[in-house]
Amino acid sequence: MKQDKISGKAYDSKLLSRLAKYMRPYRTIFWISVVLTILLAAVAPALPMLIEYTLDNYILNGQYEGLDMMLIIMMLLLIAQTIVRYFHTLMTNTLGQSVIRDIRIQVFEHITNLRLKYFDNTPIGRLITRTISDLETIANIFSEGLIQIIGDLLQLVVILGVMFYTDWRLTLIILVPMPLMLWATYIFKEAMKSAFQDVRLWVSNLNTFLQEHISGMAVIQYFAREEQEMKKFEAINKEHRNAHVRANWYFSIFFPVLEIIIAIATGLLVWYGSKQVLADVISPGVVVAFLMYINMIFRPIRELIDKFNTLQMGMVSAERIFDVLDTNEFTPNSGTHKPAQIRGEIEFKNVWFAYNDEKWVLKDVSFKVKPGETLALVGATGAGKSSTINILSRFYEIQKGQILLDGVDIRDYELTFLRKNISTVLQDVFLFSDTVKNNITLQNPAITDEEIINAAKRVGAYDFIMRLPEGLDYKVQERGATLSAGQAQLVSFIRALVHDPSILILDEATSSIDTETELMIQSAIDNLMEGRTAIVIAHRLSTIQKADKIIVLEKGEIKEIGSHQELLAMDGYYKRLYDLQFDSAGI
Ligand SMILES: Nc1ncnc2c1ncn2[C@@H]1O[C@H](COP(=O)(O)OP(=O)(O)OP(=O)(O)O)[C@@H](O)[C@H]1O
Ligand SMILES: [Mg+2]
Repeated sequence: MKQDKISGKAYDSKLLSRLAKYMRPYRTIFWISVVLTILLAAVAPALPMLIEYTLDNYILNGQYEGLDMMLIIMMLLLIAQTIVRYFHTLMTNTLGQSVIRDIRIQVFEHITNLRLKYFDNTPIGRLITRTISDLETIANIFSEGLIQIIGDLLQLVVILGVMFYTDWRLTLIILVPMPLMLWATYIFKEAMKSAFQDVRLWVSNLNTFLQEHISGMAVIQYFAREEQEMKKFEAINKEHRNAHVRANWYFSIFFPVLEIIIAIATGLLVWYGSKQVLADVISPGVVVAFLMYINMIFRPIRELIDKFNTLQMGMVSAERIFDVLDTNEFTPNSGTHKPAQIRGEIEFKNVWFAYNDEKWVLKDVSFKVKPGETLALVGATGAGKSSTINILSRFYEIQKGQILLDGVDIRDYELTFLRKNISTVLQDVFLFSDTVKNNITLQNPAITDEEIINAAKRVGAYDFIMRLPEGLDYKVQERGATLSAGQAQLVSFIRALVHDPSILILDEATSSIDTETELMIQSAIDNLMEGRTAIVIAHRLSTIQKADKIIVLEKGEIKEIGSHQELLAMDGYYKRLYDLQFDSAGI
């Protein structure tokens, strides 16, 4: 399984400045966060200082008048600190979430425009991880990363300054175990880095496994593979658990070590401090204040490391997301041709096409379809039929030759215009988990209910739609799970019809359906093709027979062209195919 790379730098000025661009609309929030951070750091030593003052000047002096006032001041300070902290958290989180919302929308928009070839080579799971979990990690840069690190460092500096100012000797004594602390922290940080890497890797493996197996559940159950798949799942879970346990083990070692170091510092303070108090060099209030300072400098160091990790992971995620955003695999769209009308004449001129390198899927294919004609493509599986129609709408680019629409190269048409004029009904119908209506209109508000109903009647799907619990508003489940294959097909026909294309492309489903639906779909197809140029990848004899022209493809080459009768008379490929496919069916 693929290792997730996670060795990025925690501070990368290029990445940061690119991220900063996304912060621009939220400048105000950003600066408020910075101000609040500075404020919090600056008031950090206030409480210990107040306690020191109260102890030395009131309690130990036996002056109880005014003591209540001091307590009230301390309480107000605490309340103020809490309120500032509340706004600080709110602001930094809002900032992070706003930024990632913008990036996420941009990523999705970008992905939507990438050409299909990119998706052939990119696992869906990876793109989902990019747009969801990687982005969450980026949000953390803002909510618990950068600004907080600056805040913590500032607080350390302020407190150390106050400490040195109060009593530099005492401060130096307390700092004796600091090198030990830094060393332990460094070791912990390195160990955590590799532990986190493992955790991320197994989380990603877990995701991939679940996603694939839930989508492919039917296969698992049909072949009764539950037990074997369970075993695989258990193995992944075991590794996942172990990775987490390892990471937590480091924590369980580090925290006691941290406590010991703090205890050493405290011991040193009590030992040296009390001697100084007895010698009347310092006041007891200073010792108490220093007890609090110890916690305020040693503990944040641990948190700094956490935040450093967060920052580092955020940077890695940012790099990955920018990687997607920098993918320029678009279909070139330099054409501008947008005629008022498309007649629908299609011509392939010596077209060569390969998905990869020079593994030709179509070899020197030439043919012509006149406006309003129907062309049927037949051939064995893998012959290149679907590929022929994929290149017509420019879902893939051809390498050699030319495809002309009304005598103009399809690359000279504006891409959206070209695709709007060609409706394709795919081999596998894809329905979104949305209403039947939205699946038909694809959110195009220009299409009225009346048009949908007319189209439904034309393809003979009206009755079945009206029988659905909510008619057009019936909610289709993911991938059309709650409709039959034939029904889903009819919905896709209506979809093609309401978009009223000049050219219709139909990749006939190979799945056989019952005779009644078959007849219904047949008449639906006839209706669809009426009055427009159509290219049909035909598996049904009835469709083939009605076509004006039939092309027999074999291994990417045109073997025969002609009408049904002509081809039968040739007694060649078509005849053989016909005998193989239809004779046995007794047609
Ligand atoms: N996205 C793709 N990337 C790489 N190769 C592909 C891709 N799609 C199809 N191919 C290859 O191109 C060849 C032609 O495939 P195509 O889908 O055009 O066949 P087809 O005639 O439509 O077959 P079927 O009747 O099974 O639908 C096959 O060898 C296939 O492996
Ligand atoms: Mg196909």
